[in-house]
Amino acid sequence: MRSHYCGELNEEHVGQEVVLCGWAHRRRDHGGVIFIDLRDLEGIAQIVIDPDTKESFAIAETVRNEFVLKITGIVRLRPEGTSNEVMGTGRIEVLGKQVEVLNAAKTPPFQLDEHAEVGEDIRLRYRYIDLRRPEMAERLRFRSKVSNSIRNYLDDNGFLDIETPLLTKATPEGARDYLVPSRTHQGRFFALPQSPQLFKQILMAAGMDRYYQIAKCFRDEDLRADRQPEFTQIDIETSFMNEEQIMQITEKMIRQIFQKHLDVDLGDFPRMTFADAMRRFGSDKPDLRIDMELVDIADLMKNVDFKVFNGPANDPGSRVVALRVPGGVRLSRKEIDDYTKFISIYGAKGLAWIKVNDLAAGTEGLQSPILKFMPEDVVKDVLARLEAETGDLIFFGADKTKIVNESIGALRLKVGADMGMVKGAWAPLWVVDFPMFEETSDGGLTAIHHPFTAPSCSVEELKSDPANALSRAYDMVLNGTELGGGSIRINQPSMQQSVFRILGIEEEEAEEKFGFLLSALSYGCPPHGGLAFGLDRLIMLMTGASSIREVIAFPKTQSAACPLTDAPGLVSAKQLRELNIQIRQAKAE
Ligand code: AMO
Ligand code: AMP
Repeated sequence: MRSHYCGELNEEHVGQEVVLCGWAHRRRDHGGVIFIDLRDLEGIAQIVIDPDTKESFAIAETVRNEFVLKITGIVRLRPEGTSNEVMGTGRIEVLGKQVEVLNAAKTPPFQLDEHAEVGEDIRLRYRYIDLRRPEMAERLRFRSKVSNSIRNYLDDNGFLDIETPLLTKATPEGARDYLVPSRTHQGRFFALPQSPQLFKQILMAAGMDRYYQIAKCFRDEDLRADRQPEFTQIDIETSFMNEEQIMQITEKMIRQIFQKHLDVDLGDFPRMTFADAMRRFGSDKPDLRIDMELVDIADLMKNVDFKVFNGPANDPGSRVVALRVPGGVRLSRKEIDDYTKFISIYGAKGLAWIKVNDLAAGTEGLQSPILKFMPEDVVKDVLARLEAETGDLIFFGADKTKIVNESIGALRLKVGADMGMVKGAWAPLWVVDFPMFEETSDGGLTAIHHPFTAPSCSVEELKSDPANALSRAYDMVLNGTELGGGSIRINQPSMQQSVFRILGIEEEEAEEKFGFLLSALSYGCPPHGGLAFGLDRLIMLMTGASSIREVIAFPKTQSAACPLTDAPGLVSAKQLRELNIQIRQAKAE
């Protein structure tokens, strides 16, 4: 229908007749002349319709926002002084000769203006309108290009794109499953995959050597800005490669993507052990753009006469840390109170602080609610360890290790952001040497990555001290977001069974849930390993979007619903009967 896209027109087209198709972005009447900003995926062109083209003028008068139009006209330069340098097509306009309304439109529920404040529910309900907004369309286009580059990179490196089933058995990645009832096997359920983990391992057992898939994954978990119940992984698995080789090949992929699509050189990614990351940043996904670290001071606090500090200082399961905030003396009492409230979400019971108003003045130069509890020499040692300077504020956290890490780790990010301390655009790193397991609230152990991850030790060593065993897992972190994670897998049935046992999965249960994997491992399964990136998170970071919902065409809301289709929906009594399912208690609508 069209000869050109609106956004592609420029001075080179002056004098040409063009046929454009698109949406009426805006219509303005200017003293007898009608201007229509016509929009398509490539951009906006200004159409001018003179009253002397009578028929077209009459049609143009009926045009409202979001009408779909086909316009034939001649490209000309805009009159002197009226060009718009912000617009790609700002130096030209199209003198419309023929205007055809291909479809009318009701008044849109919101303006397609970049700055219009629209509730997310409305945006998702009318997603087809929301996606017409140039910045939304641009993100989807960017996503498509990046996916394409990823496919090319993996294809060039010998990876096969292989699809794995969506109707399958549970794959434990730490979330709840989405279940699909089987009609042909009543009382039985498929689970939608939390990841293709087991299938990709079985593909390695099948000799596929290098696999990838841009795969949909499903996890019924608490949603956040970087989590969706249905999301996309760039899923990768390889045989006969060690962790070093896997990290190299995938790091190179991310580096190339950034170079090609953002013209950014990420350089070589630094490595950090899990233990160091937790100690220095309280997090296994540290944002290295913020130059503040947690500093342990438990050894200095063992004998102070302040229970809040000396309790945790003498408990091996606790931590006492200090966080030096350069320039923090300017924080008001109210701001400090707000931070105290903020970290209470993580279970912190308080937030002690010292302001260093004048370092040279000794105790006189300090201001703090806790000075009265602490001998002068202890305060001096703390300041020395932190290399405190005049103008600094020092925060303190003392509690169970988990609470200190989470609360002071989060405080570091928040204060860093609030005080404009986020430096540089990109800070990637690999976090390595994760523990195999972590303790659950009931005292048991759970896999930190997943139960198929190989430990860095022998079966005997693993069994004798599982809580301290390290794994061959690695995470790629970018700007404080976990972009991807993977590991070398267990390829020996005996090791796999030992891990199941440590996790409290007895033989019978292991056989019932993962018998097919154990069987595959026992028929000549090569050493293998891989990793999966969150594609949505990658695109979110690359486009600077505030949430992964902004880079997914049809995301779910915070309560895992789709306002566009109204899913999840009710099903008919007949369907339920066929599935032999009875709803115990219909929820009152
Ligand atoms: P993991 O569970 O770490 O590993 O997931 C890999 C990556 O997927 C992304 N991701 C998500 N993105 C959006 N919404 C979610 N709910 C969500 N959950 C995870 C993250 C994460 O780093 N099978 C293993 C990978 C492997 O071992 O090869 C796995 O799924 O970016
Ligand atoms: P209190 O004696 O409870 O008033 O506490 C004195 C100071 O210590 C206050 O500034 C509290 O916010 C702070 N505080 C209390 N508990 C903790 C904790 N677990 N970690 C760090 N600071 C704390």
